[in-house]
Parts: sequence; C-alpha cells; structure tokens
Amino acid sequence: MAQFNDEELTKAVINRMQGANDPRLREIMTALVRHLHDFAREVKLSEAEWLAAIDFLTRTGQMCDGKRQEFILLSDTLGLSMLVDALNNKREGRETPSTVLGPFYVPGAPDLPMGADIAANTEGGFKTSVSGRVLNGDGKPIESAVLDVWQTAPNGLYDVQDPQAPEMNLRGRFRTGSDGAYRFWTIKPVSYPVPTDGPVGKMLLALGRHPYRPAHLHFIVTASGFEKLTTHIFVRGDRYLDSDAVFGVKDALMMDFIDDAKSNTAAVACDFVLKRTGQPS
Ligand code: BEZ
Ligand code: FE
Repeated sequence: MAQFNDEELTKAVINRMQGANDPRLREIMTALVRHLHDFAREVKLSEAEWLAAIDFLTRTGQMCDGKRQEFILLSDTLGLSMLVDALNNKREGRETPSTVLGPFYVPGAPDLPMGADIAANTEGGFKTSVSGRVLNGDGKPIESAVLDVWQTAPNGLYDVQDPQAPEMNLRGRFRTGSDGAYRFWTIKPVSYPVPTDGPVGKMLLALGRHPYRPAHLHFIVTASGFEKLTTHIFVRGDRYLDSDAVFGVKDALMMDFIDDAKSNTAAVACDFVLKRTGQPS
C-alpha cells in the first residue's frame, strides 16, 4: 500500500531506513523521524509554518562561512549545546566542569611565554592578571598542560568579528611547567551580546529574549592522559549570570575578580582540575 494516514506515514519512513548499514545512524534517524513527526502532530504544523521553518533554516545556512557559524549559535541559544555537554561530560568531585565552546574558537593561537599579555594590542579595558594551576583529581600538578585562551575586546567583539582587530588578538596558548602553574595578563572580560544580525538574533527578538552572555574568559585545557576540558571562567556578580543567552553558566565556574585600587589592576585565581581519560563517570 503506497498511501498512508499520518501515523502509518511515520512507521513507513522508519521502516524504509531499516536497511542502513550503520546501526547508530539507524538508531539516530529512527528517533529523529519519530520525534519530528510527533512534534508536527503536537503543534498541528501548518503549511505556512513549515515553509517559514524551511526559510529560517535556509537563512541560517546562508549566514555560515569560515568565520560565522549560525547553526552553532542556533544550537547554543536553544540549549542543545549545553544538553549535549551535560550528556557527555559528567564530571564529579573536584574536576572542573565544562561548558559551551561557542562559535568563536580559532585554532592556531600563538604560543606565549608565561606572564605574557594577550591584550597587548587592545585599547581600553581593565588590566587583569589570571593565574592558577592545572591539577589532576588528586590535586597534583600536571606538567605540559596547554591552556588555549580567548576572549572579547572591551567592545564585546572577538577579533574574528571585528575588521579593525589585529589577527589573533586576545588569544594565546600557555604550556605549564612541572609546577602545573600558569599566569598571563589580559583585560577584565565584559558581558556582550551574541551576534543578532542573523536569523538567530531575529528568533531571540521574536521570543522576547535578550542576547547577552555574562562576562567570561574561554579556555580549552589539554594534557596527555587527560580528557580535553572546554570551559569558561565567569566574572562573579555579572548581571547576566542568571540569564545567559546560551545557558552556559555553572556555579563552579564563577570566579572572584579582585580589584586592586593601588595598582589599578584586577586579579583572578583559578585552578583547573582535569579528568583522567578512561576514568568512569
Ligand atoms: C561565546 O561565548 O563566545 C559564545 C557562545 C555561544 C554563542 C555565542 C558566543
Ligand atoms: Fe564568549
């Protein structure tokens, strides 16, 4: 029978995929079709709404290029990125929690000596020292851990968003010595809006949502024998901590940035505790 009512149609599409060679692909696509069809039934999706969704996804794809990833932004603002993070990065005890990567990570940041200033070519901002250690779950220092760091300028833009910014501005990689310690200078991060000039920005507006992220510094910390840690440190007290546009805040990632009036600088201390690879969660 080639004609289906709506329930039979769902079954027919699922049956048609049973020949897929990859069992994981079959599992994912079966669940996707089931949920997608149930979703359309639940909201009684009209043809005009279906077309609007196609148009939205088309514009989202057209917005993507080497420097702009509107689909990651869509995933982030719908909470999907943090759900995938929660499902895959269960950290317990002292281990530093992970959070969203975001669309502005650029591989190949310069390797810098300890104590370097990643904001050396940046105008404005409040000079801030960032330091701490990279540790294992027993509190022992990890040698040769690499911290890949990035953040926005005081105008709230990453270098890749700002044609005036020097390449690789406010980015750097630091490698720990035997004491596991790291330290560098930067400027105090500011809260900033995720890009709003594309379809995701229009979606946020239509949903009555603001686009702001609380002030943060991004880190990817890697070390041989340990799981890669993609995380942030957030500035405690930021007004957007409770309403981050991408749901990325975790209590353990909020840090005190302490201002020192005498030197007119701030300081934040933060240790990163990595999880050994292959350790059960
Ligand atoms: C970021 O923190 O860089 C970011 C994360 C998610 C969406 C947009 C920006
Ligand atoms: Fe960011």
